[in-house]
Parts: sequence; structure tokens; C-alpha cells
Amino acid sequence: MLKKITMTVNGVKRTVEIDVRESLLDVLRDKLGLTSVKQGCGVGECGACAVLIDGVSINTCIYLASWADGKEIRTVEGLEQDGKLSSVQQAFVDGGAVQCGFCIPGFVISATELKEKKQSYSREEIRRALSGHLCRCTGYQKIVEATEKALEED
Ligand code: FES
Ligand code: FES
Repeated sequence: MLKKITMTVNGVKRTVEIDVRESLLDVLRDKLGLTSVKQGCGVGECGACAVLIDGVSINTCIYLASWADGKEIRTVEGLEQDGKLSSVQQAFVDGGAVQCGFCIPGFVISATELKEKKQSYSREEIRRALSGHLCRCTGYQKIVEATEKALEED
């Protein structure tokens, strides 16, 4: 069954016709061309497909696109402002936290969620908050350090 949904994607209202069985991952990648949203495991275990939905990091491979109707979606493509990387993105670059890069958009999304909560976190809490993301290049140490640095900045 086809259905039209309207969501705000990276600040722009988008109306898309979807199949009600489609995942939000497929709609963002295939219909809206947002390729920062990666298909890894496809079953909610690797975090590569995470985006912010109303400010919360959600795995979109197990989230129906129809549930996104009326919601605010942000992907890594929408994090920079006026051509400037967000503080989280910049910390990942500066800290050399990127190897092949496949998992990184998901980590950046969850780190951004933490940053926007404006709380302070111990290293252990950061590790726990990022534990839903798998990095096959195993660059966890630098990813956690970059997140920590981004959270320290105003
Ligand atoms: S592709 Fe969605 S959690 Fe792995
Ligand atoms: S940087 Fe390669 S999978 Fe994480």
C-alpha cells in the first residue's frame, strides 16, 4: 500500500510517497539521496543507519518510514551550519577518529544527541551511550576521545 508522508528533513519539509512496508533507511537513502545513512546489519544491531528523530538517535533500518510522518529528521548532511562542520564533526576530523568511515555517521549522530542534551558525561557514560554502534575498523578509542572533546566544548 502506498502512502504520502511529510517530514522535516535537515530543516526542509519533504513530502514523499512511500510503501508502508518501507524502512526509513530506504526512504532516506534511495528517495532522498542521503547517503550518510548507511545500511550495515539491517537488523538494528550496528548503528550505521542512525539518524536523529525529534532529537533522539534511532536506527532507521528497523523504523518504518510511515512512523516518521510529521517528525523532524536530521542526518549528518544537516549538521554543518553555513559551510562549517559541527563541533562533533570537527572533533572527529581533528582527532583522527575516522578510518574507513562507514560507521562514523552513526557515531556522529549519537554523539550529537549527547551534545544537545547539554549534560556532562564520564568516559564510561560516553562509552555506554555509543555502545549501540559497531566499528569494524575497531577505532573505538579515538571515537570516544573525539566525542569526549566535542562534549567539553561550548
Ligand atoms: S543497519 Fe541499522 S542498525 Fe545496522
Ligand atoms: S571506521 Fe571503518 S567501520 Fe568504523
